[in-house]
Amino acid sequence: MDKVRVGFIGCGGIAQYHFGHMEKTSKARVVAVCDKIADRAEAAAKRFQAKPYTVYADMLDKEKLDAVFVCVEPSAHDGMELMAIEKGLHLFVQKPMSLSMAYARKVRAALAKAKRISAVGFQCRYVDTLPRVKAWLAGEQIGMVSCFRLGGLPMVWWWRQRRHSGGQVIEQTIHNYDVLRYLLGEVTAVSGMAREGIVTGVPDYDTEDASAVTMHFKSGVVATMTTGCFSPAGFGNGDFLVYTREGQMTYGLGGAFKIQKKDLLIEGKAGNDYGQECDEAFLDAILENDQDLVLSPYADACKSLELVIGATESMRRGGELIALTGK
Ligand SMILES: NC(=O)c1ccc[n+]([C@@H]2O[C@H](COP(=O)([O-])OP(=O)(O)OC[C@H]3O[C@@H](n4cnc5c(N)ncnc54)[C@H](O)[C@@H]3O)[C@@H](O)[C@H]2O)c1
Repeated sequence: MDKVRVGFIGCGGIAQYHFGHMEKTSKARVVAVCDKIADRAEAAAKRFQAKPYTVYADMLDKEKLDAVFVCVEPSAHDGMELMAIEKGLHLFVQKPMSLSMAYARKVRAALAKAKRISAVGFQCRYVDTLPRVKAWLAGEQIGMVSCFRLGGLPMVWWWRQRRHSGGQVIEQTIHNYDVLRYLLGEVTAVSGMAREGIVTGVPDYDTEDASAVTMHFKSGVVATMTTGCFSPAGFGNGDFLVYTREGQMTYGLGGAFKIQKKDLLIEGKAGNDYGQECDEAFLDAILENDQDLVLSPYADACKSLELVIGATESMRRGGELIALTGK
């Protein structure tokens, strides 16, 4: 195989991001695309001279594919991954991979059984400054971490309804939680509080406006994450402030960092197209049959999903401490 034959389920906003990457790579050919909304499938098909479908089962039955990108809203994962794995396909799934841990665990088990390559859309793991920052932290005694993300309401219809998006922490801040896990290791327990009432006048809106979550790491580190979707000014797209025994580090989700110690200052910025690299890593892993090339395999992403589902459940239970199993 010199090119991966790719199909898409979902041709909305994030699929356009992947389409841009597919146009730039020589490692894939988009041969079929599916969206329930026929216009979206047809527009995508035209872009790649691919075959359009409105029913994914038809696409999976009729097309000879190697891999599928699943780019549907969080509530729409209805068995599509399981069917794709049954057909022998490798799987790229956008985060959050489901609103149900039971479903995500089924997909994880099916992937392991079929030995298929998997990736989840945590492109922030591919930011080129992250390995430097991770290496620096590995040599430090970390005491505590404080993180935040603040933005406005995304415009897609489903985002504002908890039953479709899961809420901000599950749908959006999962990126920040995932990078935190990538840097600091596993979280063993989580507790969260949420507030409502600052976002007003949005029809059908029922998600949390803001939340504050405390995490306990296996290493002993404690961390907080505050996040809100009430400010269109978007003053922060994810900043981490890590306090170590002898210094501190700030890191932005986009890769800018600043390390400070007595008589030491190191600053840096990301310079790579990490979204492109995320998709290429998945394609390379298929072409070279090497899952280790992917920084965010489905099984690992399940731990980030468990963390945000646990945090959200804790908010619902008024801050009750939720133990995470990692299973
Ligand atoms: N990695 C990132 O930074 C990032 C950014 C944005 C969105 N996302 C994620 O991507 C996913 C999709 O978000 P979006 O913004 O593209 O949403 P969207 O609403 O723009 O697109 C989703 C598309 O999926 C289609 N769809 C739903 N069910 C389907 C089915 N059964 N068969 C075929 N098509 C179906 C819808 O018709 C829609 O066109 C979400 O999980 C979101 O969290 C990730």
